[in-house]
Amino acid sequence: MVNLSVNLNGLKLKNPVMTASGTSGSGEELTDFIDVSKLGALVVKAITLEAREGNDYPRMAETASGMLNSVGLQNKGVEHFVKEIYPKIETLNDNIIVNVSGSTVDDYVQVTKKLEKLPKVTAYEVNISCPNVKQGGFAFGTSPTIAAEVTARVREVTDKHVIVKLSPNVTNITEIAVAVENAGADSVSLVNTFLAIAVDANTRKAKLSTITGGLSGPAIKPIALRMVWQISKAVKIPVIGLGGIMNAEDAIEFLLAGASAVQIGTANFIDPTVTVKIIDGIEKYCIKNGIKNVNELIGAMI
Ligand SMILES: Cc1cc2nc3c(=O)[nH]c(=O)nc-3n(C[C@H](O)[C@H](O)[C@H](O)COP(=O)(O)O)c2cc1C
Repeated sequence: MVNLSVNLNGLKLKNPVMTASGTSGSGEELTDFIDVSKLGALVVKAITLEAREGNDYPRMAETASGMLNSVGLQNKGVEHFVKEIYPKIETLNDNIIVNVSGSTVDDYVQVTKKLEKLPKVTAYEVNISCPNVKQGGFAFGTSPTIAAEVTARVREVTDKHVIVKLSPNVTNITEIAVAVENAGADSVSLVNTFLAIAVDANTRKAKLSTITGGLSGPAIKPIALRMVWQISKAVKIPVIGLGGIMNAEDAIEFLLAGASAVQIGTANFIDPTVTVKIIDGIEKYCIKNGIKNVNELIGAMI
């Protein structure tokens, strides 16, 4: 019997595997394929104060070893989440993590306050890293000062676990991680997508309406791994690693590089049962290698 549970600075998960925001809807979409309660946590898609239509189509493009998206935080707003979605998903998992987004610092505070009364929402993932919206998100994630301000303001209105999701689209991701740690983040998650473009040689047009979008999938894994390793050495709070994890071996590599938990994004579009397969695969790896506790893997790269 392997102990797969991890404790992220007080946030207890039965195993280190979560969904990545925006890639499994609100979790309901997964119920036809997997028992969502088996996941360490369910991370739902970005919620903003007001409803957002997102960007114009086309907003997805396939590239070699990855995909490009510019969804632009489409959602029906926090009131709709509280009234319509939460009641349908509250029994799916004991850890529901809401990805909180906004255009202003105050938006993040208002969204968080409105979610406070939901008992199964055990953590917020403060999304300061979305490359696909004009204001907020991206700008917040590229400035240590603003990143710290958003974190501190959210920290003031909740005692729940605050994860800050970092952008890889910066020169020095370490300074942002340290800034949000000092501002009261309980953990950090990284990476969000990498700013990129795809061009159609026949039409000579960019494949996305927004021209630029966010690259995810296997193409970004080595860079994400480097950033996770770097940040896990620079901060004391736990690091949640993601970026191109397609199978159990990828997930184990992130744990070895210093992640205390992982999130699975693009892989869900290829195989919606992948998260549960990854949990099983981590357990099998532990058994094969005589590891009784998954925590032994965290940061164990030599
Ligand atoms: C279609 C799509 C929508 C996404 N929406 C969000 C979102 O709403 N909030 C967020 O923080 N990240 C969002 N992301 C980023 C993912 O959560 C994740 O950080 C990124 O895709 C890297 O992981 P992966 O390579 O496993 O997909 C989205 C990614 C994709 C592909």
